[in-house]
Amino acid sequence: MADARPFHWEFEPDQVDREVFRIEGGRRLEGTVRISGAKNAALKLMAAATLTGERCRFTNVPEIEDVRVLAEVLRDIGVTVDHPAPNTYELACGDAEWLFVPLEAAAKMRASFILLGPLLARFGRVIISNPGGDRIGRRPVNLHVDAMRALGAEIDYRNGYYFAKAPGRLRGGHVVFPQITVMGTENAMLAAVLADGHTVIEPAAQEPEVDDLIEFLQQMGAEVERTSPTRIEIEGRRRLRGADHRVVPDRIEAGTFIVAAGVTHGRVTLQDAPCDHLGAFLGVMADVGVSVHCGRDTIEVDATEADLRPLRGCDIETDPYPGLATDLQPPICVLLSQTEGISHVHETVFEDRLEWLGELRRMGARVEISDSHHATIEGPSPLHGAEVEIGDLRAGASLILAALAANGTTTIRGAHHVHRGYEKIDRKFLELGARIERLAEGT
Ligand code: UD1
Repeated sequence: MADARPFHWEFEPDQVDREVFRIEGGRRLEGTVRISGAKNAALKLMAAATLTGERCRFTNVPEIEDVRVLAEVLRDIGVTVDHPAPNTYELACGDAEWLFVPLEAAAKMRASFILLGPLLARFGRVIISNPGGDRIGRRPVNLHVDAMRALGAEIDYRNGYYFAKAPGRLRGGHVVFPQITVMGTENAMLAAVLADGHTVIEPAAQEPEVDDLIEFLQQMGAEVERTSPTRIEIEGRRRLRGADHRVVPDRIEAGTFIVAAGVTHGRVTLQDAPCDHLGAFLGVMADVGVSVHCGRDTIEVDATEADLRPLRGCDIETDPYPGLATDLQPPICVLLSQTEGISHVHETVFEDRLEWLGELRRMGARVEISDSHHATIEGPSPLHGAEVEIGDLRAGASLILAALAANGTTTIRGAHHVHRGYEKIDRKFLELGARIERLAEGT
């Protein structure tokens, strides 16, 4: 299993790394934008396809870098991954003889660790690298490893790799998390659906993407159910079958475009948008004064009134779902820099997810970072163009929002972070009337 084997990486990281966004701000966004499928659902669904030898078909898959990286990792493992049309992927995991997830994959994308549970459950062994991903906080994987151990796995850690084995078959068990973890819950579920016996996972994460995964697993023939808001119960099966699934829309992308309309005093309609999944976020929009109306699959945002009546600051606190998503904290902070008064931000989920506010400050925002979990934003402050650097995915999208609201031209380095998770973000903003270009750095 440890022999050298060529990998088929298609991407050229150096080329991608050198890309910048150049944005001329100060234009009101207007028009319609279609929301893509959720990154945080698509990646787990693709991992779930390794639980069966039969074909699985996914539609509404976002065309993003993380999906491309996971597709490459899966191909290297021996999974047939077809991409017959844009946003459609078909996967068949006949026999995976190479149960190894390399450092190159994990360093690009923390979510590659989601392969631990399904590969261990189906093939009884896997060697998987300790993941990197976003540079936010420590982001350990101890809870995933403990969950696998609770299901009978033997796991050693050597030289940056987890060596995991399931002697015989994984067995059902009680997985108790000391704190809510989204991918930890998903990894435990993906392992337990093929384990011998009954598993209880609690407290289980309640994010809509977890429920999207449950729905797909049920289509595969798994006996898995959310038996209370924070408990998932599973009766393991010996075999699962192939299934088709449409990926749930991306609530984080939707929130990002709602804020884009807010900070540019624009009027934007979101299509295929998941209003039901945005409860806490829409509460913040109401407090701030951005008008949002939900239709069946559309969301209409109108912030043109902000020309006449200033938006209001408010205090926010992130929490696991159904609380306010930590992934929407950075976009909301951009909005709070444009609202009247003092807003307090309490980031409870990750450490160091406020560091990027330093870049927002370079654009003219009045921001105080008190500690790794608390910040204060005083507004409104006119933003101006600057040269800024993206450190992670969500902060990257938020710097684009700030640049759209700013006077003058902003150059944003580190565009590759944004391509990891947002489909055609520059084209979507262009179609709403923004002036945004993607350029090789130095041009
Ligand atoms: C997922 C999302 C990410 C989102 C986050 C919280 C994906 C691919 N990513 O990340 O976009 O921001 O949920 O909604 O779905 N923790 C540990 N040990 C572990 C696992 C987590 O200490 O083994 C900690 C984390 O450092 C963090 C907290 O638990 O402080 C919650 O993290 P978790 O819910 O696991 O986030 P992810 O699933 O990695």
